[in-house]
Amino acid sequence: MSVEVPQVQVNPVAELPGGGGPDKMSAHHVSVFYGSKQAIDDVSIDIPLRYVTAFIGPSGCGKSTFLRSLNRMNDTIAGARVEGEILLDGQDIYRSGMDVVQLRARVGMVFQKPNPFPKSIYENIAYGPRIHGLTNAKPELDNIVEQSLRRAGLWDEVKDRLNDSGTALSGGQQQRLCIARAIAVDPEVILMDEPCSALDPIATARIEELIDELRGRYAIVIVTHSMQQAARVSQRTAFFHLGKVVEYGRTSDIFTNPREERTKDYITGRYG
Ligand SMILES: Nc1ncnc2c1ncn2[C@@H]1O[C@H](COP(=O)(O)OP(=O)(O)O)[C@@H](O)[C@H]1O
Ligand SMILES: [Mg+2]
Repeated sequence: MSVEVPQVQVNPVAELPGGGGPDKMSAHHVSVFYGSKQAIDDVSIDIPLRYVTAFIGPSGCGKSTFLRSLNRMNDTIAGARVEGEILLDGQDIYRSGMDVVQLRARVGMVFQKPNPFPKSIYENIAYGPRIHGLTNAKPELDNIVEQSLRRAGLWDEVKDRLNDSGTALSGGQQQRLCIARAIAVDPEVILMDEPCSALDPIATARIEELIDELRGRYAIVIVTHSMQQAARVSQRTAFFHLGKVVEYGRTSDIFTNPREERTKDYITGRYG
């Protein structure tokens, strides 16, 4: 049975063949605990290359917790513990000997609130490639800065003010700067946790366009509380509820023909 979801328009282009690639990441039976409290319960999911995967679900259901387990950001939270297996290109990211700094370059993250360093626009981008040893040479760094800002759709707006502080930019520009910063270290996966929630509708639209442009090169995961946004930008959607993934599949199926009653209730707005 299909349900009426008139307020959500699924982008048809997003479902054309040839879009998605092989699985870049795979989570198997992942559970996450904060002390004795379980926040994620036995989640298994694949993250394909060249697709945008959206995590949706009511507040507190574990979307951010699960997202952070994909690049071991939960390691920075005292008392957080991850069980199960998470693979990047078939290799367990929780194995001993894993270089976590390197992992976070390969699996970059963009946060809810834009958080540029209190440094110049140039330095915001050049810092990562320098500390990750990509290059120290000025001409090469200049090139990385320009290419990253171009790919993040910010170059034309900032090319004449690269020495200005990153924090002097508008909110939407700051978020694109943070995306450029993530891109600069040549990631394979980009995790975004409600990247538009602090932005106005025009800046949001700009970020959504950018996500669509970027997905050709990366695996992108976006947490969003906006079902409209999930429908616009993603090709795969996972619906989280109470720490579990209730349903995961093609975005068009989730929004027009969900298998699970709980998904149906959520997308039709029966509960938030
Ligand atoms: N640092 C933390 N310490 C303890 N509990 C946390 C922490 N972060 C999140 N939680 C709890 O884990 C659950 C899932 O939270 P979260 O992943 O932030 O959900 P969502 O992103 O879907 O809103 C919630 O019950 C929340 O209170
Ligand atoms: Mg969250």
